[in-house]
Amino acid sequence: MSASATAKAHANLAFIKYWGKADPSLNLPLNGSISMNLSAASTITSVSFDESLPSDQVYIHRGPAPESLGQLVLPLDDSLEQTAGAFAQRVTKHLDRLRSLAHTRMRARIVTANSFPAGAGIASSASGLAALTLAAAAALKLSLSERELTVLARRGSGSACRSIPAGFVEWYAAVRSEDSYAAQLAPPEHWPIVDLAVIVSHASKKVASSEGHELAATSPFWKTRQLELPDKLKAMRRAILECDFTSFGQILESEALAMHAIALTSAYSADNSWYSGIYYWLPETLELLLAVQEWRAAGLPVYFTLDAGPTVHLLCPAEYADTLGDAVHSLASSVEGRRWELLRNMPGPGASLVDR
Ligand code: PMV
Repeated sequence: MSASATAKAHANLAFIKYWGKADPSLNLPLNGSISMNLSAASTITSVSFDESLPSDQVYIHRGPAPESLGQLVLPLDDSLEQTAGAFAQRVTKHLDRLRSLAHTRMRARIVTANSFPAGAGIASSASGLAALTLAAAAALKLSLSERELTVLARRGSGSACRSIPAGFVEWYAAVRSEDSYAAQLAPPEHWPIVDLAVIVSHASKKVASSEGHELAATSPFWKTRQLELPDKLKAMRRAILECDFTSFGQILESEALAMHAIALTSAYSADNSWYSGIYYWLPETLELLLAVQEWRAAGLPVYFTLDAGPTVHLLCPAEYADTLGDAVHSLASSVEGRRWELLRNMPGPGASLVDR
């Protein structure tokens, strides 16, 4: 017996950040968060459960993203690379959760492809685990509501729950696992804003976000952030629902800096060495943040946010995206030979099943 399905999900960008876990084994967050799905950053994943397989087999597609995974021929396609590393283990652990719900022990062949480069500062774990959850649930004919899917995706990777609903999404912090779910705040067409992701480096970060989450509460500023968050969440919700770009941008920047202030002051040590904190920025990151202030002073409505890496996300109303793109290109080329990659996103759709 065999059963398969393919699903697509988009990465998301947090406006109010998930930073710190109340329960690491369940990925229960210390605070609620709000995000937008990214239209140009998606993962497509196909899952085929097969009784004849002795173990799960995970294949990653390298190279330009295919339109559909049906184009790839297993196991002969050169673009497919079988992996047995940490990612494959994470996939198996997550499929075990779905297998247990479906009362089956069938193993699966998983093929996954990202539309965006790895190490670009856009987490493929969110889109990847959301697509995997939906594809596996469909293949196993589990009848789950969107809310239940978000809870399951969260178990695989915290922020993955926000990639299940479409558009602007809120993830709620809660004590019980079934209450910490994500739900749509507004659909993608509600507000035409653009996220221009400026990828200044492809080097992988030194400190994984899982480590950052673990250390967050060691920062002396952590309590203050927790106290401020309920008001910030409320203000961000309102700014999105009322399409108030100025308030949105001001909360966005102060929140990004608050998260990085926590990271910078978290008690971090590694390799028998003491570090004063976790630095996710590179010099070019700061150069862009300073440029944002100048561009804004010159009348361009643009605000930034940053996740756990040096990529700078620039947010502006859609009608200013070309002007902003030109400003970024001219800053990049002010240093000879320097190339920054840009990824332009609009509010993106939610996770969906794909015909093979
Ligand atoms: O879901 P994780 O464990 O990859 O953590 C995501 C952390 C941030 O991207 C920095 C913030 C967020 O809310 O997405």
